[in-house]
Amino acid sequence: MVKLTFLGHSAFMLESPKGIILIDPFISGNPQATCKADDLNPQWILVTHGHGDHLGDAISIAKRSDALLIAPFELASYVQKSGVNAHPMHIGGGHAFPFGKVKLTPALHGSAVEDEHGMVYTGQPCGFLVELEGKWIYHAGDTALFGDMELIGKRYNLDVALLPIGDNFTMGPDDAAYAVKLLKPKVVIPMHYNTWELIAQDPLKFAEKIDPKITRTVILKSGESYTIDQ
Ligand code: NI
Ligand code: MN
Repeated sequence: MVKLTFLGHSAFMLESPKGIILIDPFISGNPQATCKADDLNPQWILVTHGHGDHLGDAISIAKRSDALLIAPFELASYVQKSGVNAHPMHIGGGHAFPFGKVKLTPALHGSAVEDEHGMVYTGQPCGFLVELEGKWIYHAGDTALFGDMELIGKRYNLDVALLPIGDNFTMGPDDAAYAVKLLKPKVVIPMHYNTWELIAQDPLKFAEKIDPKITRTVILKSGESYTIDQ
């Protein structure tokens, strides 16, 4: 059994019999957060890019829980300087971890961390294909719609796609609905919306654009979970 819990914005917790994985754990300062960063005890943390609303609490959680942080090479190198145990990967590369497989996909976006040195660029942003208990989950990260989503849809039988719909910084509802046509996941869960006024969206309007014969839309409130069955 694989349980996905939405932690608000683009943050998710994935639980399987093999352990707990966080993706983009932005909790502190996240208006949608319903838990505390200190309450999360993952073994692995996946981070798509360096922006504050994705790297979030990853460094402090990784240090406290001794989790392995998995990220694109430049971002992994950045967090290693803070003493975090990190596993660098890059776009197109896959690796088998104790919990299952991870493969990095492209994402059309930027990646930088703002710290005491100003803006530190952290290479390419990514999305993640994650295999858990034979189920495939795609977390698109922050991205525009791109044609190679069709390739991802052809090569992976996606059980769940986590797609941004907020517009302005990422795909909006129209482009995200088109992405669903290309990816053909069994379930789509919208993310990266309503955190701030600038990315306000009605997820029901997004759901109306999805063909329910191919893909079921599951709208999660922060703190709610979806369990992948069978
Ligand atoms: Ni971003
Ligand atoms: Mn973002």
